Amino acid sequence: MGTVIAVANQKGGVGKTTTCISIAAALAERKKRVLLIDMDPQGNSTSGLGIDKKSLRCTTYDLLVGNVSGIEQVIIQTRAKLDLLPANINLVGAEVELIQMAKREKRLFNTLSAVRDQYDFLVIDSPPSLGLLTVNALTAADAVLIPVQAEYYALEGLMQLMTTIGLVRKSSNPDLRLAGVFITMFDSRTQLSKQVRDEVAWYFQKDFLRTVIPRNVRLSEAPSHGTTIFEYDKRSKGANSYRNLVQELLDRLGSQPWMNGTLGQI
Ligand SMILES: Nc1ncnc2c1ncn2[C@@H]1O[C@H](COP(=O)(O)OP(=O)(O)O)[C@@H](O)[C@H]1O
Ligand SMILES: [Mg+2]
Repeated sequence: MGTVIAVANQKGGVGKTTTCISIAAALAERKKRVLLIDMDPQGNSTSGLGIDKKSLRCTTYDLLVGNVSGIEQVIIQTRAKLDLLPANINLVGAEVELIQMAKREKRLFNTLSAVRDQYDFLVIDSPPSLGLLTVNALTAADAVLIPVQAEYYALEGLMQLMTTIGLVRKSSNPDLRLAGVFITMFDSRTQLSKQVRDEVAWYFQKDFLRTVIPRNVRLSEAPSHGTTIFEYDKRSKGANSYRNLVQELLDRLGSQPWMNGTLGQI
């Protein structure tokens, strides 16, 4: 059974999509079988992998509302050697349509169960909200990974996210773990970046990941070429830092405390 990692933070522009594409690609580079699941109507994970959002016949929207008979109809193979459940703006409709459905927060979890054993890792990109799409992502996940931008007000909103994670654990996914909290777009030249890093590290203690993702222009350029950072510039700082993040994640996921559930309790 593959491990499902949801990348979540209801703030926009903090690096969720960049993280999803980059850790999915770093895992694929290590010969892991990976499915990237785009749960954001903006479809940036989809276009970032070079897939034309407008030409899609089936998307995660069709999966969630039950328009397709099987998940295989929606999965696309990408040239980054990973599979994708693509999304586009149609997914906006799902927030509304799901409200009337039975077990609405379990729709993603249920559809993924058909393919979970075909992958080693399933990585979910979430939208910038705490609505039903994010709740579906958290319900389907074994672990949630939280990117925090090295900016003013970084911690603001994180408490709301932690509350939502707590509610999901109480209702639909008691085993949900915290994969970790880490800093993105770190600028080592600024005091502010360091202050934010230290504050987040202090707050999250053992759940704070050592790996810091620097601000790196190559990371921001890669999606416009429809390529991952590993195809675009595999020796860049961005590529190396995401390799390190994946190593740290694998160490945590494989460690004994993780297995007996004492690590990452929220
Ligand atoms: N480490 C980084 N260095 C430089 N630019 C980055 C980095 N991470 C993300 N970006 C850029 O910042 C913007 C927001 O990132 P994105 O991953 O789309 O965030 P989110 O999915 O949370 O909205 C994008 O233009 C992206 O290319
Ligand atoms: Mg995004």
